[in-house]
Amino acid sequence: MVRHGQFEMNEVVATANANVALAKYWGKRDQALNLPYTGSLSITLAGLTTTARVSFSGRLSADQITLNGQEAVAIEAQRFRAFLSLVRRTAQIDAKAEVAISGNFPVAAGLASSASTFAALALAASHAAGLSLSTRELSLLARRGSGSAARSIDGGYVEWLAGEAADGSDSFAVQVAPADHWPLGVVVAITDESRKRLGSREAMARAAKHSPFFPAWLQSHDADLDEIRQGIRDRDLTRVGQAAEHNCLKMHAVCMAARPSILYWTPATVAVIQRVIELRHAGIDVYFTIDAGPQLKLLCLPQQRGALAEEIGRVPGVRKVLLSAPGCGAQVVEAA
Ligand code: DP6
Repeated sequence: MVRHGQFEMNEVVATANANVALAKYWGKRDQALNLPYTGSLSITLAGLTTTARVSFSGRLSADQITLNGQEAVAIEAQRFRAFLSLVRRTAQIDAKAEVAISGNFPVAAGLASSASTFAALALAASHAAGLSLSTRELSLLARRGSGSAARSIDGGYVEWLAGEAADGSDSFAVQVAPADHWPLGVVVAITDESRKRLGSREAMARAAKHSPFFPAWLQSHDADLDEIRQGIRDRDLTRVGQAAEHNCLKMHAVCMAARPSILYWTPATVAVIQRVIELRHAGIDVYFTIDAGPQLKLLCLPQQRGALAEEIGRVPGVRKVLLSAPGCGAQVVEAA
Protein backbone atom coordinates (compact mmCIF):
# COMPACT_ATOMS: atom_id res chain seq x y z
CA MET A 1 0.00 0.00 0.00
CA VAL A 2 1.31 3.45 -0.90
CA ARG A 3 1.75 5.81 2.03
CA HIS A 4 0.17 9.12 0.97
CA GLY A 5 -0.14 12.42 2.66
CA GLN A 6 1.34 15.41 4.31
CA PHE A 7 4.13 13.68 6.11
CA GLU A 8 7.71 14.88 6.42
CA MET A 9 10.54 12.42 6.34
CA ASN A 10 13.97 13.01 7.73
CA GLU A 11 16.79 14.43 5.72
CA VAL A 12 19.62 12.01 5.06
CA VAL A 13 23.11 12.89 3.82
CA ALA A 14 25.28 10.22 2.23
CA THR A 15 28.64 10.22 0.47
CA ALA A 16 30.16 7.95 -2.15
CA ASN A 17 33.49 7.93 -3.96
CA ALA A 18 34.18 7.72 -7.67
CA ASN A 19 35.79 4.58 -9.00
CA VAL A 20 38.27 3.75 -11.73
CA ALA A 21 37.55 0.68 -13.83
CA LEU A 22 40.54 -1.58 -14.49
CA ALA A 23 38.39 -4.04 -16.48
CA LYS A 24 35.75 -1.84 -18.02
CA TYR A 25 31.99 -1.95 -18.41
CA TRP A 26 31.38 -1.10 -22.06
CA GLY A 27 28.18 -2.29 -23.71
CA LYS A 28 24.73 -3.16 -22.35
CA ARG A 29 22.60 -6.22 -22.96
CA ASP A 30 19.65 -4.25 -21.53
CA GLN A 31 19.58 -0.45 -21.88
CA ALA A 32 16.66 0.19 -19.53
CA LEU A 33 18.02 -1.86 -16.63
CA ASN A 34 21.73 -1.04 -17.21
CA LEU A 35 22.65 -4.70 -17.59
CA PRO A 36 26.15 -5.24 -18.95
CA TYR A 37 27.39 -7.86 -21.39
CA THR A 38 30.47 -8.42 -19.22
CA GLY A 39 31.68 -8.14 -15.66
CA SER A 40 33.89 -5.19 -14.67
CA LEU A 41 36.31 -4.45 -11.85
CA SER A 42 37.28 -1.14 -10.28
CA ILE A 43 39.05 0.62 -7.45
CA THR A 44 36.90 2.93 -5.33
CA LEU A 45 38.84 6.21 -5.15
CA ALA A 46 39.48 7.96 -1.84
CA GLY A 47 38.89 11.71 -1.86
CA LEU A 48 36.90 11.92 -5.13
CA THR A 49 33.63 12.25 -3.33
CA THR A 50 30.01 13.12 -4.09
CA THR A 51 27.61 14.11 -1.32
CA ALA A 52 23.84 13.62 -1.72
CA ARG A 53 21.35 15.29 0.63
CA VAL A 54 17.79 13.96 0.32
CA SER A 55 14.48 14.54 2.09
CA PHE A 56 10.98 13.47 1.02
CA SER A 57 8.04 15.69 1.85
CA GLY A 58 4.31 15.37 1.24
CA ARG A 59 4.24 19.15 0.78
CA LEU A 60 6.34 19.20 -2.41
CA SER A 61 4.50 19.09 -5.73
CA ALA A 62 7.57 18.04 -7.73
CA ASP A 63 11.09 16.73 -7.12
CA GLN A 64 13.56 19.58 -6.62
CA ILE A 65 17.06 18.65 -7.61
CA THR A 66 20.23 20.73 -7.57
CA LEU A 67 23.68 19.76 -8.77
CA ASN A 68 26.52 21.79 -7.29
CA GLY A 69 23.96 24.49 -6.47
CA GLN A 70 22.37 24.63 -9.97
CA GLU A 71 18.92 23.27 -10.71
CA ALA A 72 19.07 20.03 -12.71
CA VAL A 73 17.33 20.42 -16.07
CA ALA A 74 16.36 18.42 -19.18
CA ILE A 75 17.68 14.87 -19.54
CA GLU A 76 19.69 15.08 -16.34
CA ALA A 77 16.61 16.05 -14.30
CA GLN A 78 14.58 13.29 -15.97
CA ARG A 79 17.20 10.72 -15.08
CA PHE A 80 17.16 11.79 -11.41
CA ARG A 81 13.34 11.85 -11.28
CA ALA A 82 13.11 8.36 -12.79
CA PHE A 83 15.56 7.16 -10.17
CA LEU A 84 13.64 8.82 -7.32
CA SER A 85 10.43 7.23 -8.62
CA LEU A 86 12.10 3.84 -8.46
CA VAL A 87 12.98 4.50 -4.81
CA ARG A 88 9.39 5.66 -4.17
CA ARG A 89 7.96 2.48 -5.72
CA THR A 90 10.28 0.33 -3.63
CA ALA A 91 9.43 2.19 -0.42
CA GLN A 92 5.74 2.52 -1.35
CA ILE A 93 5.58 6.25 -0.76
CA ASP A 94 4.45 8.99 -3.12
CA ALA A 95 6.10 12.07 -1.57
CA LYS A 96 8.37 14.17 -3.77
CA ALA A 97 11.98 14.79 -2.82
CA GLU A 98 14.32 17.67 -2.30
CA VAL A 99 17.76 16.61 -3.44
CA ALA A 100 21.09 18.46 -3.35
CA ILE A 101 24.08 16.78 -4.94
CA SER A 102 27.59 18.18 -4.78
CA GLY A 103 30.93 16.81 -5.85
CA ASN A 104 34.52 17.82 -5.15
CA PHE A 105 35.88 16.91 -8.59
CA PRO A 106 35.04 17.78 -12.24
CA VAL A 107 31.63 16.46 -13.28
CA ALA A 108 30.97 14.49 -16.49
CA ALA A 109 34.50 14.73 -17.80
CA GLY A 110 35.35 11.06 -17.67
CA LEU A 111 35.94 10.98 -13.94
CA ALA A 112 33.04 8.65 -13.18
CA SER A 113 30.93 11.35 -11.56
CA SER A 114 27.74 9.42 -12.38
CA ALA A 115 29.11 6.47 -10.38
CA SER A 116 29.63 8.42 -7.15
CA THR A 117 26.47 10.48 -7.75
CA PHE A 118 24.09 7.53 -8.09
CA ALA A 119 25.83 5.54 -5.36
CA ALA A 120 25.45 8.46 -2.92
CA LEU A 121 21.89 9.10 -4.10
CA ALA A 122 20.88 5.42 -3.80
CA LEU A 123 22.03 5.37 -0.20
CA ALA A 124 20.65 8.77 0.84
CA ALA A 125 17.30 8.40 -0.96
CA SER A 126 16.59 4.82 0.15
CA HIS A 127 17.45 5.73 3.73
CA ALA A 128 15.37 8.93 3.61
CA ALA A 129 12.43 6.91 2.22
CA GLY A 130 12.58 4.63 5.24
CA LEU A 131 14.23 1.64 3.53
CA SER A 132 17.12 -0.22 5.08
CA LEU A 133 18.86 -1.97 2.19
CA SER A 134 21.74 -4.44 2.24
CA THR A 135 24.95 -3.71 0.33
CA ARG A 136 23.74 -5.99 -2.46
CA GLU A 137 20.35 -4.27 -2.66
CA LEU A 138 22.03 -0.86 -2.70
CA SER A 139 24.31 -1.98 -5.51
CA LEU A 140 21.30 -3.26 -7.52
CA LEU A 141 19.54 0.06 -6.93
CA ALA A 142 22.55 2.26 -7.75
CA ARG A 143 23.05 0.28 -11.00
CA ARG A 144 19.64 1.46 -12.19
CA GLY A 145 20.87 5.07 -12.00
CA SER A 146 24.21 4.44 -13.67
CA GLY A 147 25.84 1.08 -14.29
CA SER A 148 29.22 1.99 -12.83
CA ALA A 149 27.50 3.28 -9.65
CA ALA A 150 26.85 -0.36 -8.70
CA ARG A 151 30.60 -0.57 -7.94
CA SER A 152 30.84 2.64 -5.85
CA ILE A 153 28.61 1.26 -3.08
CA ASP A 154 31.53 -0.79 -1.80
CA GLY A 155 35.08 0.27 -0.98
CA GLY A 156 38.48 -1.04 -2.06
CA TYR A 157 38.58 -3.41 -5.05
CA VAL A 158 35.11 -4.13 -6.40
CA GLU A 159 33.77 -6.44 -9.11
CA TRP A 160 30.38 -5.99 -10.76
CA LEU A 161 29.06 -9.40 -11.75
CA ALA A 162 27.41 -9.28 -15.18
CA GLY A 163 24.68 -11.74 -14.16
CA GLU A 164 22.38 -13.62 -16.52
CA ALA A 165 18.85 -12.97 -15.28
CA ALA A 166 16.64 -10.88 -17.57
CA ASP A 167 15.36 -8.88 -14.59
CA GLY A 168 18.92 -7.99 -13.46
CA SER A 169 18.54 -9.56 -10.02
CA ASP A 170 22.00 -11.17 -10.25
CA SER A 171 23.80 -8.12 -11.68
CA PHE A 172 25.36 -6.39 -8.65
CA ALA A 173 28.83 -5.62 -7.32
CA VAL A 174 30.84 -7.45 -4.67
CA GLN A 175 34.07 -6.54 -2.91
CA VAL A 176 37.09 -8.50 -4.17
CA ALA A 177 39.38 -7.07 -1.48
CA PRO A 178 39.13 -4.20 1.02
CA ALA A 179 41.15 -1.03 0.53
CA ASP A 180 43.79 -2.03 3.10
CA HIS A 181 44.46 -5.35 1.34
CA TRP A 182 46.74 -3.47 -1.08
CA PRO A 183 47.44 0.25 -0.59
CA LEU A 184 48.14 1.27 -4.19
CA GLY A 185 48.86 4.83 -5.31
CA VAL A 186 46.51 6.44 -7.84
CA VAL A 187 47.33 9.69 -9.65
CA VAL A 188 44.58 11.39 -11.67
CA ALA A 189 45.76 13.61 -14.53
CA ILE A 190 43.12 16.12 -15.64
CA THR A 191 43.74 17.42 -19.13
CA ASP A 192 40.40 19.08 -19.82
CA GLU A 193 37.75 20.17 -17.33
CA SER A 194 34.97 20.88 -19.79
CA ARG A 195 31.89 18.69 -20.04
CA LYS A 196 32.41 15.80 -22.39
CA ARG A 197 30.73 16.01 -25.77
CA LEU A 198 29.49 12.45 -25.87
CA GLY A 199 28.36 10.79 -22.64
CA SER A 200 29.33 7.21 -21.92
CA ARG A 201 25.72 6.05 -22.22
CA GLU A 202 25.38 7.09 -25.84
CA ALA A 203 28.97 6.18 -26.69
CA MET A 204 28.73 2.63 -25.43
CA ALA A 205 25.44 2.09 -27.27
CA ARG A 206 27.03 3.31 -30.51
CA ALA A 207 30.18 1.25 -29.99
CA ALA A 208 28.17 -1.92 -29.32
CA LYS A 209 26.10 -1.41 -32.43
CA HIS A 210 28.47 0.18 -34.89
CA SER A 211 32.01 -0.97 -34.11
CA PRO A 212 33.32 -4.06 -35.92
CA PHE A 213 35.67 -4.60 -32.96
CA PHE A 214 32.87 -4.99 -30.42
CA PRO A 215 32.60 -8.81 -30.77
CA ALA A 216 36.36 -9.08 -30.16
CA TRP A 217 35.99 -6.87 -27.07
CA LEU A 218 33.36 -9.22 -25.66
CA GLN A 219 35.25 -12.33 -26.56
CA SER A 220 38.54 -11.21 -24.93
CA HIS A 221 37.17 -9.39 -21.87
CA ASP A 222 36.92 -12.21 -19.35
CA ALA A 223 40.59 -13.05 -19.70
CA ASP A 224 41.47 -9.46 -18.65
CA LEU A 225 39.01 -9.63 -15.78
CA ASP A 226 40.51 -12.90 -14.48
CA GLU A 227 44.04 -11.53 -14.79
CA ILE A 228 43.18 -8.34 -12.90
CA ARG A 229 41.25 -10.14 -10.15
CA GLN A 230 44.13 -12.56 -9.60
CA GLY A 231 46.72 -9.76 -9.75
CA ILE A 232 44.82 -7.87 -7.04
CA ARG A 233 44.70 -10.96 -4.83
CA ASP A 234 48.49 -11.39 -5.31
CA ARG A 235 49.19 -7.63 -4.97
CA ASP A 236 51.01 -7.80 -8.33
CA LEU A 237 51.16 -4.30 -9.81
CA THR A 238 52.83 -5.37 -13.06
CA ARG A 239 50.15 -7.98 -13.76
CA VAL A 240 47.24 -5.71 -12.86
CA GLY A 241 48.74 -2.71 -14.65
CA GLN A 242 49.50 -4.53 -17.89
CA ALA A 243 46.05 -6.10 -18.06
CA ALA A 244 44.30 -2.81 -17.17
CA GLU A 245 46.21 -0.88 -19.84
CA HIS A 246 45.40 -3.54 -22.42
CA ASN A 247 41.71 -3.48 -21.47
CA CYS A 248 41.62 0.33 -21.65
CA LEU A 249 43.30 0.49 -25.04
CA LYS A 250 40.90 -2.13 -26.39
CA MET A 251 37.88 -0.14 -25.17
CA HIS A 252 39.18 3.00 -26.88
CA ALA A 253 40.01 1.04 -30.04
CA VAL A 254 36.40 -0.22 -30.11
CA CYS A 255 35.27 3.42 -29.86
CA MET A 256 37.62 4.74 -32.52
CA ALA A 257 36.46 2.04 -34.94
CA ALA A 258 32.77 2.88 -34.49
CA ARG A 259 30.88 4.78 -37.20
CA PRO A 260 30.70 7.68 -36.54
CA SER A 261 33.93 7.27 -34.58
CA ILE A 262 34.34 8.22 -30.95
CA LEU A 263 37.66 9.74 -29.88
CA TYR A 264 37.96 10.91 -26.28
CA TRP A 265 41.68 11.68 -26.26
CA THR A 266 43.29 15.10 -26.53
CA PRO A 267 46.97 15.74 -27.38
CA ALA A 268 47.62 15.95 -23.60
CA THR A 269 46.07 12.50 -23.10
CA VAL A 270 48.55 11.06 -25.59
CA ALA A 271 51.43 13.04 -24.05
CA VAL A 272 50.71 11.49 -20.63
CA ILE A 273 50.52 7.99 -22.16
CA GLN A 274 53.93 8.57 -23.70
CA ARG A 275 55.41 9.90 -20.46
CA VAL A 276 54.12 6.82 -18.60
CA ILE A 277 55.82 4.56 -21.15
CA GLU A 278 59.08 6.52 -20.78
CA LEU A 279 58.90 6.30 -16.99
CA ARG A 280 58.43 2.56 -17.29
CA HIS A 281 61.51 2.33 -19.46
CA ALA A 282 63.33 4.21 -16.70
CA GLY A 283 62.33 1.46 -14.25
CA ILE A 284 59.23 2.93 -12.57
CA ASP A 285 56.24 0.61 -12.28
CA VAL A 286 53.41 2.84 -13.48
CA TYR A 287 50.37 2.11 -15.68
CA PHE A 288 47.56 4.20 -17.13
CA THR A 289 43.88 3.74 -17.70
CA ILE A 290 41.33 6.09 -19.31
CA ASP A 291 37.52 6.06 -19.05
CA ALA A 292 35.07 7.84 -21.37
CA GLY A 293 36.93 11.14 -21.44
CA PRO A 294 40.38 12.71 -21.86
CA GLN A 295 41.58 12.26 -18.25
CA LEU A 296 43.97 9.53 -17.14
CA LYS A 297 44.31 7.57 -13.94
CA LEU A 298 47.75 6.18 -13.19
CA LEU A 299 48.48 3.24 -10.92
CA CYS A 300 51.75 3.08 -8.99
CA LEU A 301 53.30 1.99 -5.71
CA PRO A 302 52.14 4.23 -2.84
CA GLN A 303 55.67 5.48 -2.10
CA GLN A 304 56.09 6.66 -5.71
CA ARG A 305 52.85 8.58 -5.90
CA GLY A 306 54.20 12.03 -4.95
CA ALA A 307 57.14 11.94 -7.38
CA LEU A 308 54.88 10.59 -10.14
CA ALA A 309 52.35 13.36 -9.58
CA GLU A 310 55.12 15.96 -9.96
CA GLU A 311 56.39 14.34 -13.15
CA ILE A 312 52.91 14.17 -14.67
CA GLY A 313 52.09 17.73 -13.61
CA ARG A 314 54.95 18.87 -15.88
CA VAL A 315 53.52 17.22 -19.02
CA PRO A 316 52.27 19.98 -21.36
CA GLY A 317 48.46 20.20 -21.30
CA VAL A 318 47.98 18.63 -17.87
CA ARG A 319 45.84 21.11 -15.93
CA LYS A 320 45.50 19.45 -12.59
CA VAL A 321 46.77 16.40 -10.78
CA LEU A 322 44.81 14.68 -8.00
CA LEU A 323 46.20 12.12 -5.58
CA SER A 324 44.08 9.17 -4.63
CA ALA A 325 44.21 5.62 -3.30
CA PRO A 326 41.74 2.79 -2.68
CA GLY A 327 38.99 4.31 -0.54
CA CYS A 328 35.79 3.46 1.31
CA GLY A 329 32.30 2.65 0.07
CA ALA A 330 29.14 4.75 0.33
CA GLN A 331 28.30 6.00 3.82
CA VAL A 332 25.47 7.78 5.59
CA VAL A 333 27.09 10.81 7.21
CA GLU A 334 24.05 12.53 8.67
CA ALA A 335 20.51 11.39 9.41
CA ALA A 336 18.25 13.80 11.24
C1 DP6 B 1 34.04 4.00 -19.41
O1 DP6 B 1 28.24 3.88 -15.78
O2 DP6 B 1 28.52 6.11 -16.92
O3 DP6 B 1 33.55 4.55 -17.16
O4 DP6 B 1 25.31 2.86 -17.13
O5 DP6 B 1 24.94 4.38 -19.04
O6 DP6 B 1 25.24 5.34 -16.75
P1 DP6 B 1 25.60 4.21 -17.72
O7 DP6 B 1 27.15 4.30 -18.00
P2 DP6 B 1 28.37 4.63 -17.03
O8 DP6 B 1 29.59 4.05 -17.89
C2 DP6 B 1 30.88 3.97 -17.40
C3 DP6 B 1 31.80 3.55 -18.49
C4 DP6 B 1 33.29 3.60 -18.16
C5 DP6 B 1 33.79 2.23 -17.76
C6 DP6 B 1 33.48 1.77 -16.36
O9 DP6 B 1 33.30 2.59 -15.44
O10 DP6 B 1 33.46 0.54 -16.18
